[in-house]
Amino acid sequence: MKNTVLVIGSGGREHALAWRLAQSETVKYTYVAPGNAGTATEANMENVNLDIADFIQIENFCRQQNVDLVVVGPEQPLVAGIVDHLTEAGIACFGPSAAAAQLEGSKAFAKAFLKRYAIPTAAYEVFTEVEAACTYLQQQSFPQVIKADGLAAGKGVVIVQDIPQAEAVVKDMLADNKFGDAGSRIVIEEFLQGEEASFICMADGKDFISMATSQDHKARDDGDQGPNTGGMGAYSPAPVVTDTIHQRVVDEVIKPTLEGMQTEGMPFTGFLYAGLMIAADGTPKVLEFNVRFGDPETQPIMMRLKSPLDQLCLAAVKQELGTEAIEWDQRFALGVVMAEQGYPEAYQSGHAITGLESLEQWQDCKVFHAGTKVNDGKTVTAGGRVLCVCAVDESLQQAQQKAYAGLAKIQWGSAYFRQDIGAKGIRHLSES
Ligand code: AMP
Ligand code: GLY
Repeated sequence: MKNTVLVIGSGGREHALAWRLAQSETVKYTYVAPGNAGTATEANMENVNLDIADFIQIENFCRQQNVDLVVVGPEQPLVAGIVDHLTEAGIACFGPSAAAAQLEGSKAFAKAFLKRYAIPTAAYEVFTEVEAACTYLQQQSFPQVIKADGLAAGKGVVIVQDIPQAEAVVKDMLADNKFGDAGSRIVIEEFLQGEEASFICMADGKDFISMATSQDHKARDDGDQGPNTGGMGAYSPAPVVTDTIHQRVVDEVIKPTLEGMQTEGMPFTGFLYAGLMIAADGTPKVLEFNVRFGDPETQPIMMRLKSPLDQLCLAAVKQELGTEAIEWDQRFALGVVMAEQGYPEAYQSGHAITGLESLEQWQDCKVFHAGTKVNDGKTVTAGGRVLCVCAVDESLQQAQQKAYAGLAKIQWGSAYFRQDIGAKGIRHLSES
């Protein structure tokens, strides 16, 4: 039987998931809601203008089109219960229930969970009152990390260097409601030293399969400077995650998390993403959980995935992941995000993008769209992160060169990108 698939979301992650799904021999057709200019032009794929917060509309569409599998990209519909709704309606939807999605939906929930199961993470306290938070901060050494409790689109985390800055952030979040309800509770935690890595697996409630390792680049500017963003580029595999560290993450983080969620009656199905800080001695600590695939980690990881993604997702929904195997392209993949100047703060949109067609025939190179749309037949920018130019090659350096060579063909007036995606990985490889 061939599957009709619906991907929920409109970013680079969703373009990459939909592209990989559409290539499976068992996928007949792929819908993306609402999608972008990239998903609009893929073969056997179509954008549908659904409101991704309206689960009844999505359910009706799935019934009309006989959708066999729904794959959810972003966190908001997961936290709001899309999987519970569609599962109840008898539609296979890969992702966590609303209860399980609290691992991302509430940082206070995630931190308390980590503590209950002695899973390594930064020491922390939770506050709802400005005064108590400020009294606590006066007794701490700096830097400290202040996090809004709820979803804040990657912008709810501030690293503070001294007491005046810390007090200003606490007031912004708790008193001035800068993050709305998401900031009515805050977590203050210890600043961890080390190198970040993303560890993503697919889980079916009890069993899991690790995805290829990857490293994101969260800061906007070269050398990890500038404000935090959703991610400016990524590569896979990530040499910082050695075999020994991989095993430690599985044993010390992933297994106890899945067991704990099962014990608490909210088994976790879906992509589980642990954002990790790896200390110099190789100790991994959890910075955060995401209950979905990373963006832009998805883009290079999907370039390397050889197994049919629809089959893996359907096996997970049926709790049969334990018998599945996963196959990867052994080469390196690297993706560089092209953003609008000004992102993650104010930026313009509506600029026409040129040069995309010149990459269509390039082998092992793929441009995933994020904030794009079609206007009068032209592809124009329509978001902060606009494209992710990805390449696969034998070495990380070659993948990096190919991705940047591809990127050089693409232009619009106010394009911005980091010049050093992959540099840390190349450094690791040259030292080992
Ligand atoms: P989060 O959304 O919690 O992952 O935080 C966003 C980013 O802030 C992370 O990717 C890190 O770069 C940084 N960060 C968060 N928590 C810490 C911490 N405890 N120590 C150092 N950096 C952190
Ligand atoms: N790239 C980080 C994230 O998806 O949260």
